[in-house]
Amino acid sequence: MAPTPARPRIILDCDPGHDDAVAIVVASHTCDIVGITTVAGNAPLERTAYNARVMRHILDIDVPVVAGAAGPLVVAPAFAGYVHGESGLDGADLPEPTRPLDGTDAVGFIIDTVRSEPGCHLVVTGPMTNIALALRMAPDLGDHIAGISFMGGGTFGNRTPMAEFNLWADPHAAAIVIGSGLPLIMAGLDVTHRFQATPDRIERVRALDGRLASVLSGLFDFFSENYRSRHDDMAGAAVHDPLAVLALTHRELFATSDSFVDVMVTGEHTRGMTVVDQRTLVDRPAANCTVLTDVDADAAWDITIEAIAAGSRSV
Ligand code: BDR
Ligand code: CA
Repeated sequence: MAPTPARPRIILDCDPGHDDAVAIVVASHTCDIVGITTVAGNAPLERTAYNARVMRHILDIDVPVVAGAAGPLVVAPAFAGYVHGESGLDGADLPEPTRPLDGTDAVGFIIDTVRSEPGCHLVVTGPMTNIALALRMAPDLGDHIAGISFMGGGTFGNRTPMAEFNLWADPHAAAIVIGSGLPLIMAGLDVTHRFQATPDRIERVRALDGRLASVLSGLFDFFSENYRSRHDDMAGAAVHDPLAVLALTHRELFATSDSFVDVMVTGEHTRGMTVVDQRTLVDRPAANCTVLTDVDADAAWDITIEAIAAGSRSV
């Protein structure tokens, strides 16, 4: 993948979701966001689109929010209320956003924007339905996209023993995107589980002034309590999605490995599983993905705090 400019232009395709909300905050501080597109995932589409509008409102940023696919390509829709609450953003008093949606055709928006903004990156933090549809409808898209940085996959699962939620939720879309031949960065569970919203980290958010910090500390409390109560060994929520942003803007925070990655589309345990070829055999498939393998979590949290402080100052 070519070196990423200091402040990359991105389309953020997401399903907010607590950690998607943090990704929006971090991206608004570190990237030029040319659009936020939403997909059904953590919650139904109407709610993920609403939640993206809430975050735009709180951050007071002038970015189009466009809703997209209401369900996966083939499998039945399934949401993650058990992680994010029924609203997708349980745990905070959210303001009512005033600006309406800028459209309901995220796929068309992605195609038009990528064609008119060559060199744009796609950051994908939900099921890959919108991106797969765009790649299928506009085969020339790959000529214009700088790359795709996505949160998903890993060498273990969270939705099933082997599958991570985003890829499990739409495995056929994931297979299209991961098989696309485009430059890929994968922020999988191996790395995102090392970036946790521990109590001391949440207290740093709470200590900041402003509405954004107050909303986010409530969201982190809910999200982390949920993770702690559902796992034997987690000190706080895995804050998955901002790592797909930081992988573009702060590559020095990560250890990476270029590998061949494939996605399984069927199987009780294996639907949505990523197969990461870690063999050192000379005769192995060519790498198609830069896989994040470790993160400097303290430094990543410092940047997250900077982004929240900056977003709190802007309103
Ligand atoms: C992914 O699934 C969602 O719950 C999160 O927002 C993240 O994108 C983690 O498996
Ligand atoms: Ca997400």
